[in-house]
Amino acid sequence: MDDCIARRAFLRLIGTGAVSAWAFPGMLPSVARAQTRELQSKPIPSSGESLPMIGMGTWRTFNVGDDPKLLDARTRVVKAFFSRGGGLIDSSPMYGSAPETIGYALRELGAPKSLFSAEKVWSPAGGNAREQFASLAEQWGIKKFDLVQVHNLQDWREHLPLLREMRNEELIRYIGITTSHGRRHAEFEQVMASESLDFVQLTYNITHRDVESRLLPLARERGIAVIANRPYDGGSLIKGLKRREVVPEWAAQEFACRTWADFLLKFIVSHPALNCAIPATTQVAHMNENMQAGSGPMPDGRARQRMVGFVESL
Ligand SMILES: NC(=O)c1ccc[n+]([C@@H]2O[C@H](COP(=O)([O-])OP(=O)(O)OC[C@H]3O[C@@H](n4cnc5c(N)ncnc54)[C@H](OP(=O)(O)O)[C@@H]3O)[C@@H](O)[C@H]2O)c1
Repeated sequence: MDDCIARRAFLRLIGTGAVSAWAFPGMLPSVARAQTRELQSKPIPSSGESLPMIGMGTWRTFNVGDDPKLLDARTRVVKAFFSRGGGLIDSSPMYGSAPETIGYALRELGAPKSLFSAEKVWSPAGGNAREQFASLAEQWGIKKFDLVQVHNLQDWREHLPLLREMRNEELIRYIGITTSHGRRHAEFEQVMASESLDFVQLTYNITHRDVESRLLPLARERGIAVIANRPYDGGSLIKGLKRREVVPEWAAQEFACRTWADFLLKFIVSHPALNCAIPATTQVAHMNENMQAGSGPMPDGRARQRMVGFVESL
């Protein structure tokens, strides 16, 4: 089959969601070549350490209790993540059994070296955050966390000094704050401007770009790494696009975009302030698609504008 026609057919199929890119081994040489490209990384500004651009979230998807079938299914998802060069796993004490599910998977897989563990502090002011970390580390089955974030700014005035203390004691490596759904941005900005932070985590995706005006430029100015949560707007964005639309051909030509996962995640991680996007999934095929988006060419500024125009026109 002519490569160009084959690519069009491929993109149409991908666009319908009828198949994933992984259903085409060897069919399109150019696509197959792109699939083997490595997951790219960006440096954490406060240390220079490299962090892979695609991480994984665990809210809802990893809250599976002690059902052995579900624990094994999520272990396969984590295995796919690490086999494609994954690093950052994000969780929180408010995600039900997610920390235990991660711990189960890490034990089964032998705690992969590239793990970058990101937890959150979610205890009321006056509660014992140190005890909470010790218990969370036990659930994950690790000695200490790479990153601890104050979840949704809760009691940040009390928690940030403690996290700094723990960073000085080398009990954690990085500290940060989170928000989502565009909440409390004015206060978030104030904390970014006045506190010494390694990371911020916030909602950024192609339909939620309000952080582009103030928070992302401030992160660059202050040397703070940025994690994007809700990259698929909780799933509705990618599932809707897969059901109804075909990936535009210009995106395939300009930055080797083959799937809606490519389109949505490459948009996020190509922003110069962004370090990492953390899509959550229950499915190995989706994990493979998501990880693929962190490799190959990325859209430039002009292509990013075209992507926004395209999504807004739908
Ligand atoms: N305040 C905070 O700190 C905060 C707030 C919100 C989120 N977060 C973090 O950010 C993470 C991501 O956000 P999120 O979980 O709300 O939403 P999300 O990652 O935007 O969307 C998750 C949904 O997308 C679907 N999905 C994933 N990959 C897909 C693919 N390739 N094709 C089709 N569907 C796909 C998943 O369904 P399937 O299972 O079917 O794949 C899942 O239902 C969270 O898990 C959490 O770790 C933090």
